[in-house]
Amino acid sequence: MTLELQRSAVACGKVILLGEHSVVYGQPALAAGLARGLTLHATPLPDRGAAIELSVPSWALDLRLTPDTDHPVARACLEVLTHCDGPVTGWRIDGEARIPCRAGLGSSAALTVALARLALGPQASAEPDLEEVVAASLVGERVFHGTPSGLDSAVAARGGVVAFERGASGSGEPIELGAPVSLVVIPSGIPRQTGALVAGVRMRRDRLPTVIDPVIGALGQLVTRGRAALTAGQLHVLAELTTVAHELLSALGVSLPELDLLCAAAVRHGALAAKLTGAGGGGCVIALCDTRAAAQAVVTGLRAEFPALTSAPFFVEIESGQP
Ligand code: PMV
Repeated sequence: MTLELQRSAVACGKVILLGEHSVVYGQPALAAGLARGLTLHATPLPDRGAAIELSVPSWALDLRLTPDTDHPVARACLEVLTHCDGPVTGWRIDGEARIPCRAGLGSSAALTVALARLALGPQASAEPDLEEVVAASLVGERVFHGTPSGLDSAVAARGGVVAFERGASGSGEPIELGAPVSLVVIPSGIPRQTGALVAGVRMRRDRLPTVIDPVIGALGQLVTRGRAALTAGQLHVLAELTTVAHELLSALGVSLPELDLLCAAAVRHGALAAKLTGAGGGGCVIALCDTRAAAQAVVTGLRAEFPALTSAPFFVEIESGQP
């Protein structure tokens, strides 16, 4: 049992490029890391028996991790630290986040991955093992999401672009891109709960299995085709698949008029295609652009058209490998 934490650790945020919801039913998915989504810094408290203090100001998170807590974030963090045989008292942990929380950008996985790295770091001779980090993160993710597919934890730990399939390697498979991909991430500001949306899809599938199973299968096929397009740098194929993905996700019942509106606006401002990303029902839309300049124009156009969005749209360039 160690009482040490690594002094700092990072984890990525994520966007799902293709395959949300169908991944729950064993289909493949493709996701991309958002570099340095969260950085955690740990400092020892003078009283090593005092409750751990966790603060991430941009997520309005300021918690004490007491054993009797019923705060899900505090419970998830304590579960991760216990799983890693890390300290459960005596530290202050400060977080700097570059992604909004609860927007489908993988904030909870970023938190649990970075925390697992803090706890596993002092026990590892070099970098903590990726599979161990993902497994520890999942212990916390289950507190938040019940039975997550594990995709978020894999991308938060790995970064770059990751192909993921439930039941295959926990940390997914890194994908080499034929060319970098310019994306605009557009937070709708509409809160949503992943668990409720996943349950809604399951109920629709239970009512209409012969209708919904082919939609889920088509989403899986789309990911296979999308993976080939990404590795070959075929942006226009990826764009068409992105459009179809949004339409299939609408058929699953997880889009909203507000998300459809943001997709249409992004295309009007010059994006090749746009889709909801993550669970839907709010959260974010991603827009695929053919150049950085086009992506910047989409950001500028959307910021002007939707000045009331709580988090402004932002540009990310997705590249192979750990960002
Ligand atoms: O929590 P979100 O918005 O990133 O959505 C998770 C993606 C789902 O496929 C809907 C659920 C899952 O566990 O993979």
